[in-house]
Amino acid sequence: MKTIVIIGTAWGDEGKGKITDFLAAKADVVARFQGGNNAGHTVIIDGKSYLFELLPSGVLHPKTVNLLTQGMVIDPQGLVKEIDKLENKNLKLYISNRAHVVMPYHRAIESANESKKGSDKLLTTKKGIGPTYSDKAKRIGLRMESFVGPNFKTELKKIIELKNSEARQLKIAEFDADKIYQEYQEYAKKLKKYVIDTSSYLNEVIKSGKKVLFEGAQGVMLCVENGTYPFVTSSSPTAAAVPLYAGIAPWFLDGAIGVAKAYTSREGAGPMPTLIDNPKIIEHFHQTKVEYEPRTKTYRRVGWFDSVIIKHAKRVSGLSHLAVTVLDVLSGLDEIKIATSYQLNGENIDFIPADIKTYQKVTANYLTLPGWKEDISKVRTFDELPLNAQNYLRKIEELSGLEIVVFSVGPQRDQTIVLKEIF
Ligand code: GDP
Ligand code: IMO
Ligand code: MG
Repeated sequence: MKTIVIIGTAWGDEGKGKITDFLAAKADVVARFQGGNNAGHTVIIDGKSYLFELLPSGVLHPKTVNLLTQGMVIDPQGLVKEIDKLENKNLKLYISNRAHVVMPYHRAIESANESKKGSDKLLTTKKGIGPTYSDKAKRIGLRMESFVGPNFKTELKKIIELKNSEARQLKIAEFDADKIYQEYQEYAKKLKKYVIDTSSYLNEVIKSGKKVLFEGAQGVMLCVENGTYPFVTSSSPTAAAVPLYAGIAPWFLDGAIGVAKAYTSREGAGPMPTLIDNPKIIEHFHQTKVEYEPRTKTYRRVGWFDSVIIKHAKRVSGLSHLAVTVLDVLSGLDEIKIATSYQLNGENIDFIPADIKTYQKVTANYLTLPGWKEDISKVRTFDELPLNAQNYLRKIEELSGLEIVVFSVGPQRDQTIVLKEIF
């Protein structure tokens, strides 16, 4: 396959960055196509950890071209910081002229809206993602083309007038167009050279037979169309969304690798039917630190692997293969559970109810499998895995109906094991 997409199958943080970095070794182009710096993708190479929020996780490969396509919302301040931090000073980057720009008023409005919500808070990343996508839909957004163009100041002034009436309603400080302009025109100057029509570029690249890897952010359960609405993000992190968000024909996408943790995790608010409540098991996960979120300085909630979610993700996004990450963290547990279906009002169901209050009520039906005690972080082939770990992966394949082509036993590049070359 020459064009594939990496998709988070659940609520994000499945290890998409690590899998993207790994597969990017073979890619000519790596493209982020949705979301913004609400994403946090970790790549660890030779013990050094990198966190990518906007740049594609393939950026550490010196030869790949990196794209931020039109479906993204881009915070120029964050992007400039990320570029400046890179050791690779020959960065090959293109930014879509149609991508929307996240501005300081988006972050301020988001914070004000969240703090008004009381117990209904979404616990967003406070990066201004929702307000930026919302301005896009309201047709009052600022696009990259205008941001780096000669009319930036005039457009900004018009938008700030609208934003100041929002600020007055929310009873927050009004925005100063001149001050914002002074700071942001510096970012615009730095980013201008990267801005092109990425759709035209991608179409040429794909037609010439080069390899393109699309990197999803978030996960299908955070999709605004198919996720646990309203506890979702504001874009669609699905394979189905790639053509629209990247400006390519649907038939240009050859496949989609769903990235799933060997269990489930969730940052932010919203239901999670397989949530683990046993303090000893929670402590097992906490000890490994994998679920410690560096940006919020809290642990993510953890749950058992949920095959209802995987089947939902496969259907609504389109997934052709599976990558299972963080298998090593399950080592040491006596038994491991997998949700096979849910119970709702005494009946078995195998779908995600659309209504959030109904989804909050479902409980999981589990299959319990024996665990394994061995440290598997040095395993490099499937056959070296303890038999119970092999059976666990086989069970995930059987329940999801997806072939596992990659699994990983640690955060480093060499702890990623390929079972089948598909890209
Ligand atoms: P992303 O948002 O999907 O890219 O995932 P994050 O990077 O936010 O979160 C995944 C976390 O798991 C990071 O801390 C990774 O370094 C870590 N990680 C990824 N794969 C593995 C693995 O196989 N084993 C372990 N122990 N950690 C992993
Ligand atoms: P990566 O790409 C985990 C969650 C937030 C919140 C909800 C809405 O690293 O997997 P937003 O700021 O997008 O409006 O927040 O979505 N969220 C994520 N959770 N990983 C992410 O990205 C996330 N991006 C957003 O916690 O619950
Ligand atoms: Mg993350």
